[in-house]
Amino acid sequence: MAEHNTLLLSSNPDAYSRSFQSFLAATQQENAILKCIQQHIVPLINKGISELLEPFRVLSVGSGEGENDINILKALCNIRRVEGEGISMINRVIEPDVARLATFREKAEKTPAIVDFEWVPMTFQEYMSQKKANDVKFDVIHFIHSIYYVEVEDALLHCYENELGRKGILLTISHGEDDPMLKFAEKFPDQRVASFPRNRDAVAVASERGWKYLVCPGDSNNLDITTIFDRFSREGNYLLDFLSNRMDVRQNEEKESVEKILKFWEEQSFINEHGRRIVELRDNAVIILKGFGH
Ligand SMILES: C[S@@+](CC[C@H](N)C(=O)[O-])C[C@H]1O[C@@H](n2cnc3c(N)ncnc32)[C@H](O)[C@@H]1O
Repeated sequence: MAEHNTLLLSSNPDAYSRSFQSFLAATQQENAILKCIQQHIVPLINKGISELLEPFRVLSVGSGEGENDINILKALCNIRRVEGEGISMINRVIEPDVARLATFREKAEKTPAIVDFEWVPMTFQEYMSQKKANDVKFDVIHFIHSIYYVEVEDALLHCYENELGRKGILLTISHGEDDPMLKFAEKFPDQRVASFPRNRDAVAVASERGWKYLVCPGDSNNLDITTIFDRFSREGNYLLDFLSNRMDVRQNEEKESVEKILKFWEEQSFINEHGRRIVELRDNAVIILKGFGH
């Protein structure tokens, strides 16, 4: 059996990308995130940021290949100036994985022409350390499933004090506490670290600092895991790897381990009316508001 820590999916960019795409194809996570932005963030901006200055600036941290970022930009295109026209936007994108960033750049060509991009191929930690005091400020900053990779208090404090303008919104979306992915991390600590940062840490920072914030429970979204039980399904094996954060789980893990993992997902799931095995994922969002009063 190969050395265990070399098999971490998150340390193997190509394999991670493949597995993440299988995950996205089997879920409606993007729709749930888009709905959250449309229902909560766009109205807040329309009501709360009265003096919209152009360009409207968005900072996205850990964009991946940009699926959610592009949806967010499309939703934000609905924000209006007083005269009723859409406003021009700039999205600064921070993503350390250059291959993922390159894929995002290709997709970015299809986004509305009113959006420009600044590409920053580095970790958020590197970005924070080289931030200049006279750099631009942002209206919206988002961490979509990327808060796991930063020290939450440092990152949020930096964003609140150095990245947001006088008025702005900081959004983090991550697994809710009752999400099966977190239950998996608790049950299989060798596969995933159970104590990774998450939204409850963002809430703790916001309340300790006296910042105004909202917590949105988020809609559950269905993940179709039917294929992971089929050892011959290529997509199923990629998805199983994603859920387990391991490369080639079926080849590299002991047989009993694989059985335990499959049993866990079987217990977390139900069979829908089409005979598909479904797990309900539950994200939640923390929205921190700066300059919106108390
Ligand atoms: C789970 S993916 C989420 C991607 C995207 N936001 C989405 O919702 O589809 C997490 C992303 O964070 C990036 N990442 C990892 N460590 C990071 C860090 N220290 N700073 C910024 N991004 C990081 C990864 O490369 C990966 O693309």
